[in-house]
Amino acid sequence: MPRLRRYLLAVTVACTLSYILITWIRFWEAPVKKKLNGADTGRFMASDIVFQSLSNKPYVPRERTDRDEDSKRRFPDGKMRKSLVKAQNFPDQDALGSNNSTVTNLGNLVKMSQQKYLIYVCDSVRSCGGWGDRQRGLVSTFVLANVTNRTFGIVMTKPCNLTTFYVPNEVNWVIPPRDLVNKSSVRIDDMDSRSQITGKLSKIDFNSNYSADVVYIRTNGEFILGLKRNKLYANKLPAWSSKSLSETFRRGWRIMMKPSEHLQEHLDNFMTSIPRPLVCAHVRMGRSSTIKMDSEVRGNISDLPVLWEFLDRYVKNGSHIFLATDSNEVRNLTRARFQTRLHDTGGRIMHVDKQAFLPRACEGFESALLDQLILTKCDVLVTSKSIFSQRAAYLRGSSENLFRFVSGKISKIQIG
Ligand SMILES: *[C@@H]1O[C@H](CO)[C@@H](O)[C@H](O)[C@H]1NC(C)=O
Ligand SMILES: *[C@@H]1O[C@H](CO)[C@@H](O)[C@H](O)[C@H]1NC(C)=O
Ligand SMILES: *[C@@H]1O[C@H](CO)[C@@H](O)[C@H](O)[C@H]1NC(C)=O
Ligand SMILES: *[C@@H]1O[C@H](CO)[C@@H](O)[C@H](O)[C@H]1NC(C)=O
Ligand SMILES: *[C@@H]1O[C@H](CO)[C@@H](O)[C@H](O)[C@H]1NC(C)=O
Ligand SMILES: *[C@@H]1O[C@H](CO)[C@@H](O)[C@H](O)[C@H]1NC(C)=O
Ligand SMILES: *[C@@H]1O[C@H](CO)[C@@H](O)[C@H](O)[C@H]1NC(C)=O
Ligand SMILES: *[C@@H]1O[C@H](CO)[C@@H](O)[C@H](O)[C@H]1NC(C)=O
Ligand SMILES: *[C@@H]1O[C@H](CO)[C@@H](O)[C@H](O)[C@H]1NC(C)=O
Ligand SMILES: *[C@@H]1O[C@H](CO)[C@@H](O)[C@H](O)[C@H]1NC(C)=O
Repeated sequence: MPRLRRYLLAVTVACTLSYILITWIRFWEAPVKKKLNGADTGRFMASDIVFQSLSNKPYVPRERTDRDEDSKRRFPDGKMRKSLVKAQNFPDQDALGSNNSTVTNLGNLVKMSQQKYLIYVCDSVRSCGGWGDRQRGLVSTFVLANVTNRTFGIVMTKPCNLTTFYVPNEVNWVIPPRDLVNKSSVRIDDMDSRSQITGKLSKIDFNSNYSADVVYIRTNGEFILGLKRNKLYANKLPAWSSKSLSETFRRGWRIMMKPSEHLQEHLDNFMTSIPRPLVCAHVRMGRSSTIKMDSEVRGNISDLPVLWEFLDRYVKNGSHIFLATDSNEVRNLTRARFQTRLHDTGGRIMHVDKQAFLPRACEGFESALLDQLILTKCDVLVTSKSIFSQRAAYLRGSSENLFRFVSGKISKIQIG
C-alpha cells in the first residue's frame, strides 16, 4: 500500500500546514478585531500601528502601556520600528525638534499629544495670594488634575522661581514649556473665587467645560469638598484625598513637594541650633508699618502681652520660643521680652505677593518658607488668623498642643 501511505502523508502535511496558517492568521487578526469592537480603547500597541497603516485608516495616537512589553516580544527585530516610523510619517528627528509629539526613543514608544494638562500659575501678571493661599490652591489643583486625568504642572515665578526652594517629590510638576506650545489652552482666574469654579466643581464635567489641552489656573480655592460631592469624581479621588481636609492637604503636599537642598540645609542648620522643647508662635498682624499695603489689620500690638504670658509658662519650664511674624515691631518687642530664649530666623519680613516687586524679594520668600517649615516641627504651636499657620498646623499633622491666638485670646484648637 505504498500509494495509500503517500496519500495519507500528503493529507497530514496539508492539514498541518493549513492549521499553522489559520493559527497564524488568527494571531495577527486578533488586535484588529478587538479594535473594531471598540474593546480596546485608549491603549496603544505597536501592532495597532502596523495594522492601521495596512488598512489605511487615519492614525490615532495612543498612550504607551505595559502591554508594549508584549509587543516588543512579538516584534523582536528592527522591522517593527521601521514600519512604525514610516507608517506615522514621524519627522525623522528627536524629541527636541518635534512639535506636538515626542518620539521617546528609537521606535520603542511614542507619547503623543493626547495628554492634557492642568497648570497652576502664579506669576507677576496678577495676584496669587500669600504662601498659605498658594498652598491651598496648589493642592486643590493637584487633586483636580488627578480626577480629570490631566498632567499637573506648576509655574510659580513670583517673586522668584519656586524650584529654588521646593522641588518635585513623587510627581514631576516641572513641565518643559516646549511640551505646551501649539496646544489649545484656556486660562481660569479664580483668585478669591473670581471664577466661582469652587462652587461649580460639585456639578460640572470639568473636561467638557474646559476642553482645551492646557488649562492654566490661578486659584487659592479649596476644591476638595466640591469634588467629593461631584458624582463624576467622588469615586475617582485618590486614596490620600479621601479623609479630612488637613490630611488631604498634608499628604497631597508631601507627594508634590520637598524642600530644595538649599532650603533643607537652612532648615537643618536652624533646627540643630535651637534647644528643645520648642514652643512656636505665628503672629500675623496684617497691615502695619512693616507691610503697609496689606489688605487688612489682623492683630493689635496691645494684645501681645496675652501671648507673652501664655509663653511665660513654658519658658519657666525650660522651653525655647520660636517666633514667626509679619511685623518687625512684634519681632523687636518679643525679642526684647524673652531675650536669649527667643529665636527667629532673622530673615527679611515681606509679603510674598503684595511686595513681590521689592528688591531682594526672593530672600523674603525664603524666610517665609523657612518660618513655615520650622512651625511644622514644634512641640507646641500657636497659630494666628492666617492660612499660613493653618497650613503649618496641617503639615505638623497633630492637634496636640495646638492653639490659636486671635483677638487677644488664646484657645486650644483641633485640625479638621
Ligand atoms: C510644527 O507644526 C507646524 C504646524 O502646526 C509646522 O509648520 C511645523 O513645521 C512643525 N514643526 C516641526 C518641527 O515638526
Ligand atoms: C507652533 O506653530 C507655529 C505655527 O503654527 C510654528 O511656526 C511654530 O514653529 C510652532 N512652535 C513650535 C515650538 O513648534
Ligand atoms: C500635530 O501637528 C500636525 C502638523 O503640525 C497636525 O497635522 C496634527 O493635527 C497635530 N496633532 C495634534 C493632535 O495636535
Ligand atoms: C488618561 O489620559 C491618557 C492620555 O493622556 C489616556 O491614554 C487614558 O486613557 C486616560 N484615562 C482615562 C481614565 O480617561
Ligand atoms: C492620580 O493619583 C493616583 C494615586 O496617587 C495615581 O496613581 C494616578 O496616576 C494619578 N493620575 C493622574 C492622571 O495623575
Ligand atoms: C524654574 O525652574 C525650573 C527648574 O529649574 C525650570 O525648568 C523652569 O524653566 C524655571 N522657570 C522659569 C520661568 O524660569
Ligand atoms: C458647562 O458646559 C455646559 C454644556 O456645555 C453648559 O451648559 C454649562 O453652562 C457650563 N457650565 C459652566 C460652569 O461653564
Ligand atoms: C488696639 O487695641 C487698643 C486697646 O484695646 C484699641 O484702643 C485700638 O483701637 C485697637 N486698634 C485696632 C486697630 O483695633
Ligand atoms: C511645666 O512643668 C510642670 C512640672 O513638670 C508641669 O506640671 C507643667 O504642666 C508644665 N507646664 C507647661 C505649661 O508645660
Ligand atoms: C526693629 O529693630 C531694628 C533693630 O533694632 C530697628 O532697626 C527697626 O527700626 C525696628 N523696627 C520696628 C518696627 O520697631
